[in-house]
Amino acid sequence: MQRHPDIHLANVQTVYAGPEGRLWELLMGEQIHIGGISSSLDLAERAGIQAGWRGVDLCCCSGAGMRFLLRFRNVAHMTGVDATPAVLQLARQRAADEGVTAATTFIEADVCRTGLPDAAFDFVWGEDAWCYVEEKPALIAEAARLLRPGGVMAFTDWMEGTQPMSAAEAKRYLAFMKFPNILTLAEYTALLERAGCKVQLAHDTARFPRYVPLYLDMIEKQLTYDALKIVGFDQALAASLIGEMRFLHSLAETRRIIQGLIVATKPA
Ligand SMILES: C[S@@+](CC[C@H](N)C(=O)[O-])C[C@H]1O[C@@H](n2cnc3c(N)ncnc32)[C@H](O)[C@@H]1O
Repeated sequence: MQRHPDIHLANVQTVYAGPEGRLWELLMGEQIHIGGISSSLDLAERAGIQAGWRGVDLCCCSGAGMRFLLRFRNVAHMTGVDATPAVLQLARQRAADEGVTAATTFIEADVCRTGLPDAAFDFVWGEDAWCYVEEKPALIAEAARLLRPGGVMAFTDWMEGTQPMSAAEAKRYLAFMKFPNILTLAEYTALLERAGCKVQLAHDTARFPRYVPLYLDMIEKQLTYDALKIVGFDQALAASLIGEMRFLHSLAETRRIIQGLIVATKPA
């Protein structure tokens, strides 16, 4: 595990309540994860998410993953948990705009302590977000607690890859992304097993190195004005963000960071 001792939930909340979060949405769209809907479809397919199921999205942000599951997988109901009030306000508005208010519930909480009842969900969902959670063992234990026996946990996440980062690279990466720590596929697998789950799938989606150039192209070739506007037309800041994106790309190309995908089940 690589960790940054100075990054905590308050730093993450600042990102998602402010310009940095809007910048991520400009580049990625409402679904703030690598691969957008194709990644969500792939995860839902591999996890065998069924029509009529009830799910919980841990770190739901503006609820795009929940609306995807309601619309394209016909799940019955989604509960979204997030710790940033501003994104939950947006989530409720977007659910209303898409006519899915009755099929959604939003809870403001730390995903490590949701306050939701035991075994209440057929599946737990997470997309490229658990990298922001400081207490990964508590997160996985909470996710396992929320699942009914026989339920499925399905998530993608920004993970450490097969090649190690140097301490300096890890510090720079975690500070730029505001990740308190990141895990490998093997470390997540160990936590899931400790929480009583059986890991069915754990692999690198290989999307990371293909998608970072797309984000760089958008910011440099098409959305430059929009991006500059979000950062208050601070050209030095914009240039440094592009520099950090290039650094991200170098890490992804050499498999030092990956988008990992995990599907695990809770024994019936
Ligand atoms: C990248 S966004 C999630 C993107 C979303 N899954 C999607 O695919 O569109 C990360 C979200 O995690 C939330 N978050 C980070 N740490 C959290 C925690 N400990 N508890 C609850 N929410 C948290 C942030 O507030 C933010 O909204």
